[in-house]
This record gives sequence, structure tokens and C-alpha cells, in this order.
Amino acid sequence: MDKIVIEGGYPLTGEISISGAKNSAIKLMVVSLLTSEPVTLTNMPDLRDTRSLAALLKHMGVEVESETASKMMLHAPKLSSTTAPYDLVRKMRASFNVLGPLIAREGKAKVSLPGGCAIGARPVDLHLKALEALGASIKLEEGYVIAEAKKGLKGAEITFPFISVGATEHAMLTAVLAKGETILFNAAREPEIVDLANCLNAMGAKISGAGRSEITIKGVNKLSGVEHAVVPDRIEAGTYALAAATAGGSVRLKNIRSDHLGSLWPLIAQAGAKVSLDETTVLIERGGGRPKPVDVDTQAYPGFPTDLQAQFMALMCLANGVSIIRENIFENRFMHCPELTRMGADITVIGREAIVRGVKEFRAAPVMATDLRASASLISAGLAARGETHISRVYHLDRGFEHIEIKLGGCGARIRREKDD
Ligand code: EPZ
Repeated sequence: MDKIVIEGGYPLTGEISISGAKNSAIKLMVVSLLTSEPVTLTNMPDLRDTRSLAALLKHMGVEVESETASKMMLHAPKLSSTTAPYDLVRKMRASFNVLGPLIAREGKAKVSLPGGCAIGARPVDLHLKALEALGASIKLEEGYVIAEAKKGLKGAEITFPFISVGATEHAMLTAVLAKGETILFNAAREPEIVDLANCLNAMGAKISGAGRSEITIKGVNKLSGVEHAVVPDRIEAGTYALAAATAGGSVRLKNIRSDHLGSLWPLIAQAGAKVSLDETTVLIERGGGRPKPVDVDTQAYPGFPTDLQAQFMALMCLANGVSIIRENIFENRFMHCPELTRMGADITVIGREAIVRGVKEFRAAPVMATDLRASASLISAGLAARGETHISRVYHLDRGFEHIEIKLGGCGARIRREKDD
């Protein structure tokens, strides 16, 4: 197993090009199940999660080829299996999203339940209710969802009791080929949902309202092939912006959609870094002096993303005062706190709130990555800490950050990957 070693205490200076969004790419790949024509995705990130999903799609008979690391071709003239086995689904929750498209195309599917994960229980009840509303009959047997739609899928009005990114996407992916009109109320508004709707519309789907909380989908009989560029990864961009604010220095991020991080920029500026934006780039500069404390509350988009909470906390650990960070989306997303504490942070977690009392500096320490975004907060802390930080279990990081040590190394970070003993 690999670990990341960082010799910290050096500011970051340079440019980083942001990759395509993991959380969009893995939904866009699933689109290939909905058409017998080729789907070509460009600006694809090369990640463990995209490789895990490619393995699952291949198991179902989708031909998957990568012409270059950032261009993937998926083609499913016909499917050879409608089963998604536990071993392939457990590696990545989002693979559960194959269920609806399989029912839409083949009339039936057997997909493993994804189970909980480190950041919380993460049930799929909203997904299943949406599919039932669209006409699927669903049974749970031995950890599998067994679904069929003997008479085909029918459009429906679906009101989500609370906002779910995954359930909104899953309903959209299923309703595109249903008969008649589907309306999703209280839908998630994330940019990844807009990206998915744009791709489906380019294939002939009729989706309107993506990016708003009411989405209308008029079912069509057939979808064609498509070439689609994955939207830039707002979480990767936010992670490097926060790393620059935490370690200090001057970093320009390219190939971003700055409007997708409207909730982050004012908070980084309030914390004392200079933020200079245009549509596709941002320059983050932080000189001497400690950051100022800023309270943060995670919310569904366009609020502050839960996927940047851990990285923002690393910045607040060094603030000149106390900040309160509230996690509203997941019930157990503070596992980075004990690890940051090992590096000298002063954090008290009470329920969904973390009270962060800023300290003057991080101290290098051996720490453990607990989930994808938590790992990124430890990288930020390691870059700012004096001494050598060893971060183990970096496979979490490889799920969602493309070439992180190369990108940070290009900005002067002393960061390397080593074999863990
Ligand atoms: C997506 O997860 C992202 N994953 C997450 O990113 C992200 O943190 C999350 O959205 C919120 O923005 C992908 O896109 C692959 P949800 P998702 O359904 O869709 C509860 C990362 O690090 N819920 O919006 O699974 C759920 O437990 C990952 O890249 C139910 O109760 O999130 C959570 O508390 C981590 N029943 C809340 O809703 C359901 O049926 C929001 O989850 C579905 C969700």
C-alpha cells in the first residue's frame, strides 16, 4: 500500500490545471447503458473510481476503451448481463446508479445494495422510491435489489423529502426512456446534475429545469450516441484553492468553472487570502499572518459543499481565533478531526458541529487517510506543517484526485509517494 510523504513548511507557487469532475464522470459513464450507440467522454479524469465503474460496465457487456487518459469510449450495442455483483458495487457507491438504466433498457436488473460507508449510513431509500414511482417493482433479497418493469417504465411526479444528488441523478437516468412526463420536485441543483442533463439532452433526451429544484423529463423512445466533455471538478479546484490558502503562496488554477464555487470564494477571502477570479481561472494568494476565523455550514448546492468541509477545516485550524464548522449533509463526516488533532490542531466535535480553536502551526506527524476528502485535508495540513508528514491509506485519495502529488509538486510542494511498510 502507498503512503504520501510531505516535507512541509514551504509555500505553494505555480499553476494547476483542474481535471474533469469525478462525480460527474461516474454518472456520465452510466449513460452508455441507455444507448446502443457509442458514447465518447472527453476531459475524463483518470481515477480509481472511474476504473472501478469501467470494470462494472465491462461486466455488463459495455466495451470500454481509453484512447488517451482523458478520452473514454463506451459502447454497448447489446448487454450481456443485468447483474451488478456486490464485489464490484461495494468499491464505489455510485455504481448503484446502474439499476435504473438497466431496468429502462432491459426491463430488469439485479444490483447489489451498496451498504454504508465511512462518512455515514447513506441509505438508498430515495432511489428505490423514485424507481418504484416510475413503475419498477422492487424486491430486496440477500443484499441485492431485484427489480423489473414488466409493462415498461411510466413517467411520474416524484417529490423528494430532502435533497439527494444521487437520487435526483438516478431518477433522471431512469425517466429519460420512460413513457410520458416525469417531474422531479425538490431536486438537487449541483453542476454535476446539469452536466448529466446536458449530455442526455445531446443524445436526444428532453430534460428541462436541471440546475433548478423542479426538473421535467419528457420520455423518449431511444437515445443516440454522443461526444461530451466532463465539467471541471469544482471539488478538486476548491481543494487546491484551500491548500494554497492553508500553506500560503500564490497558486493559479486553470480550467475551472469559477461560478460553480460561488459559496467558497467569499469565505477564502474572509479568511484573509486574496482571490482573483475570471470565468475559468482563479488566483489564490496568501502572504504572512494567520488566517482569520470563519464559520462554515455545509449545504446542498449552491451552499457550501460537504466535499470541501474537511479541507476548509484544515485552514481554520491555523486561524487566529475560533470557528464553528457545521456538517449538515452526512452524520459522520468528522473523521479527519482526530487526525488533524494529531498534527497539533485543537478541535472539539459536538454532534454535527466542530469547534475549531486556531493554533499557530501544524506539527508533522504520521496520520491516516479515512476517506477521500479527509485525505485532502491532511495533505493541506502536511503542506503547512514544519517537518515530515506521512499519510497512510492513500488509496482513498486515488479514488478522486488525479495525479495529486504531480500537481502539487509542480507548485513547489515537497511531496512524494512511497511504499508503506
Ligand atoms: C454525492 O453523494 C457525492 N457523490 C458525494 O461526494 C457528495 O458528498 C454528496 O453527493 C453531497 O453533495 C457522488 O456524486 C458520487 P446524497 P450522494 O444522496 O449522491 C442521505 C465525494 O467525496 N440519503 O446527496 O450519495 C445521505 O445518506 C462524495 O466525492 C438518504 O437518506 O449524496 C446523505 O445524508 C462523498 N437516502 C444525504 O441524503 C437516499 O436514498 C445526501 O446524500 C439517498 C441519500
